[in-house]
Amino acid sequence: MTRPIVPVEWRGDAIDILDQRALPFEERHLSCRTVDEVCDAIRTLAVRGAPLLGIVAAYAIALEAVSWNGDEGVADRLRLAGDALRATRPTAVNIAWAVDRMLKVAEAERSEAPERVRSLLVRQARSIEEEDARACEAIGAFGAELVPEEANVLTHCNTGMLCTGGIGTAQGVIYAAHQAGKRIHVWVDETRPVWQGARLTAWELGRLEIPRTLIADGAAASLMASGRVDLVITGADRIAADGSAANKIETYGLAVLAHHHGIPFVIAAPTSTIDLDSETGADIAIEERDGAEVSAPAGRPVAEPGTPVANPAFDVTPPELISAIVTERGVVEKPYPSRLRTATEARGA
Ligand code: MRU
Repeated sequence: MTRPIVPVEWRGDAIDILDQRALPFEERHLSCRTVDEVCDAIRTLAVRGAPLLGIVAAYAIALEAVSWNGDEGVADRLRLAGDALRATRPTAVNIAWAVDRMLKVAEAERSEAPERVRSLLVRQARSIEEEDARACEAIGAFGAELVPEEANVLTHCNTGMLCTGGIGTAQGVIYAAHQAGKRIHVWVDETRPVWQGARLTAWELGRLEIPRTLIADGAAASLMASGRVDLVITGADRIAADGSAANKIETYGLAVLAHHHGIPFVIAAPTSTIDLDSETGADIAIEERDGAEVSAPAGRPVAEPGTPVANPAFDVTPPELISAIVTERGVVEKPYPSRLRTATEARGA
């Protein structure tokens, strides 16, 4: 399939990024030529979503290698670049996962000629992107089986083509179910405070001609109570070994609501988002973002200046509230610890 939305492209000496801050009103692109520029694009959410952050971090390491003049210091340079990238968004484990893969290649090939090291790193970054595209296809195919005909599906944040190398994770499932002719309709949470649902998911589903309705985050409970939600599906930024899933703030609230109303709550994510080193949700670092995102959304103040603000970007849904985790290795059900380990170890690299 030719992708109608391409969020990131490798240009040989730069990374072209579709600037998600400007959507849905403008399709503007950034050209990042240094790791600092990439880090800035990540921190400011020009590029976002866990799988895409892994892809862009891999290309950033390749970029650093391309600008290396062949002197002795390459290993240190790449390590520092990796540290800077990891520090940008601490919850999204795909960044660290991709950086580790890139640094492993650099380490194994360190005695090779600079030209070869560069080309191997670019090749590895491309593989990370292509593997993610294939993972999304598989997640879509496995997940679509869980979507009933004519279902009303509620989703949160943005998990589609804008933030993966392929069709998306939770939105990949939605896309696959739609393509399979299931005549679904999607409730799109606005997703405060950064509005990824209103700005990005509603736009993306519109592009794909998938029936959708934008709702205020607070509307989910009454829609569920009145029988108008058949399935809740979201992505994840990190899944711990016990099946706890960190995702955009409010996901946990949706899982509690879905449980109360007897509605399946499903997470869709590639195995690159599973972090076996985090034993439980308590081990997942939660990114705290600038309070201005809450008190002055899109730069427009809605609270008295100086009002104290807390702005955790993610929350953790405990495994008992998750009906299934859809990965590219299949649909993982409880008990999660042994089954997530099997799925993750099978991914290889
Ligand atoms: O802060 P964001 O917009 O990067 O948060 C993104 C999410 O919470 C997504 O659900 C998650 O990264 C999965 S993307 C396929």
